[in-house]
Formats: sequence, structure tokens, C-alpha cells
Amino acid sequence: MDLSEQIDKRRIPKHVAMIMDGNGRWAQRKGGERIFGHRNGVESVRQVVEAAGELGVEYLTLYAFSTENWKRPRKEIDGLMNLLTNTIANETKKLNENNVRLLVIGNITDLPNSVQKHLAQSVNSLSVNTGLKLVLALSYSGRWEITDVVKRMCLDAKSGKLDPDQIDSCLVESYLATSSMPDPELLIRTSGERRISNFLLWQLAYTELYFTPVLWPDYRKEHFYEAIIDYQRRERRFGKVSEKSRVFTNNS
Ligand code: FPP
Repeated sequence: MDLSEQIDKRRIPKHVAMIMDGNGRWAQRKGGERIFGHRNGVESVRQVVEAAGELGVEYLTLYAFSTENWKRPRKEIDGLMNLLTNTIANETKKLNENNVRLLVIGNITDLPNSVQKHLAQSVNSLSVNTGLKLVLALSYSGRWEITDVVKRMCLDAKSGKLDPDQIDSCLVESYLATSSMPDPELLIRTSGERRISNFLLWQLAYTELYFTPVLWPDYRKEHFYEAIIDYQRRERRFGKVSEKSRVFTNNS
């Protein structure tokens, strides 16, 4: 049976976040430079975007470039920025045909002007679409985001727009880059590493974590289906007691 047929279509996570890891190791194993791995990772992005759209996932957030990635060698950063510009330019038509909307989170002003320009054009031209929302995290980190929230809240408090007594977790959420999105139900990280690596620190509080040894350039639709099937087998309790043990307690 096709793996996708094992998925319960009524319990698809609304928001899936992905740490696309292992491009460098994949390239090294093939005797190529790191950018060779990143280039081959684009096909995996296509596959995941298609699979998520077909299943009815509402938000797919991809960690495409972290705040820490700026510390990589200049050559790799330039290669990645070119790849991003070209991929966005080349894929926008296909994304549009698939009714995908594009959103970006992160410190966008850090990105080269050409990347910012292409991103703005694509975000704009896909803004009327109603299908999957593809969220690219670029020059993003959870600590950057939370620091930025604190700064903007302090500025609003200083100008009288915000009363510190009103601050609760809902209000903090309204300042996050993801304020319009539900928290991810599922985080997938490839390449066998088991870390959050400064991704969506606030939003991942109750997220189910799924780790796979597959390196990102080898990641295909079937791997995504496997992660969804695994997620659907889990019981999410959000700090409360299990439904099963509640039934047991009520009956005893
Ligand atoms: C991590 O692998 C991957 C990245 C830092 C870049 C991911 C970017 C892409 C897949 C390019 C295309 C993306 C989009 C959204 C158009 P790594 O280099 O840290 O791998 P390693 O841990 O094996 O060194």
C-alpha cells in the first residue's frame, strides 16, 4: 500500500516545521563542495512543498538560513544567497500553479538587496493564493525573534501604547513573527542530529519532534509521509493527563 494511504486525512497537522540538515555531509560523501549539497536540496524542498500541499497542511515552515549561518565561509554564504534568489525566481510560477502562498520570517534586512527584491516580488505575486502557506525562515533564529519582540514591546511601553500590566503569553505571541500562524504540531529534522538549533523557540513548546537519519538532499515525499504517520500515532497531552488514564481514573 502507498504510504500516503496510511495517513488519516482528518488529522493532518496544520503546521509542520522543518530543519533541513545534512547538505554539507551529503556533498562531502559525493566528493563535492558544500554548495553542491545545497543545490541538490532544492529538489527535496519541491517534494516536501508538494506533499504538504496535497495532504492539506496549512503552514510549512522551512529553516532555510539561520542567524548563525552568517558565520559560514563567505563562499558558501554567497552560493546560498544566489541559490535562494534563483530558486525563488524559478519556482514562483510553479508555486502559483499549486496555489501556494509565500511568507518570510527573520531579519530580512540582513539579506542582500537582490534576495530581498526577489522575495518581495514572489510574496506579492503569490499573496492571493489560498492553499499551503510556505514560510521561509531566513536570517532567522528563535533568540533573535524573542529579542526583537522584547525590544518592540519596550518601545510600545515607552510610548504608552502598551501597559506592562497587560502582558501575558497571548500578548507576547501577538508580537512574534509567526503571530498569524498556529504553533507547529510537528517538527522534522533530517540528518540524524537531535537538536532544535535556535529554531522557533517559543512556538515549539508543545511540538512533537521527529528526527530522521536521511540527509536533506535525499529527502523525498515518502519520508514526509513517514513523519506524518509517526505523528498520528502519538498522543498529545499539552501537560495534562492522558485521555486513557482519565478514563481509567473515572471508572475506578
Ligand atoms: C543545512 O545543511 C542546510 C542549510 C543551511 C541550507 C538549506 C538550504 C537549502 C536546502 C537551499 C534551498 C532552500 C530553499 C528554501 C529555496 P548543512 O549545510 O548544515 O549540512 P551539514 O550539517 O551536513 O554540514
